[in-house]
Amino acid sequence: MGRVEYWGEHGMSDLHKISVTINGEAIRASVPARLNLVDFIRTEAGLTGSHVGCEHGVCGACTIEVDGAMVRGCLMLAVQADGATVTTVEGFADSDFGPALQEAFQNNHALQCGYCTPGMLASALEYLRGVRSSATGPDRAAIRDHISGNYCRCTGYQSIVNAIAEVATSKAEGKS
Ligand code: FES
Ligand code: FES
Repeated sequence: MGRVEYWGEHGMSDLHKISVTINGEAIRASVPARLNLVDFIRTEAGLTGSHVGCEHGVCGACTIEVDGAMVRGCLMLAVQADGATVTTVEGFADSDFGPALQEAFQNNHALQCGYCTPGMLASALEYLRGVRSSATGPDRAAIRDHISGNYCRCTGYQSIVNAIAEVATSKAEGKS
């Protein structure tokens, strides 16, 4: 795994030591205060599954889980994540609805270029965790609302909503 060293313009005094647990692995590094979390994850941890689009909190491509909450990785600084537990798309495969979502996205052709997919999966996971298992069926309007902060320029969203609805139906029926 490659390590990138950040020395800043003024040398070591600009660096801050942090330790972040990412997908179960503790990553320790010295980073400049202004390095954002998603860049830290991609360059320092070598986990390039999280994407960077707009870099100002609009597109959702960088969405990751930090201490149980879905956050924009481009709006959080790496130093703010010191001591935190982070899960990225690479770790979602081992999470509660990760495998079911992966299968549903594949079955419903819910991705094309895949640029939005890591963030879309994060928002889908968050939605599914909030769905009551006794729910009568998928609420497509609620799904659309929940993923409205994630931009997809390829699919037209319909297939993504179908995929999430499929997993929500399984959950409602007690199958996942
Ligand atoms: S890159 Fe973070 S929201 Fe677009
Ligand atoms: S699949 Fe290309 S941006 Fe969503």
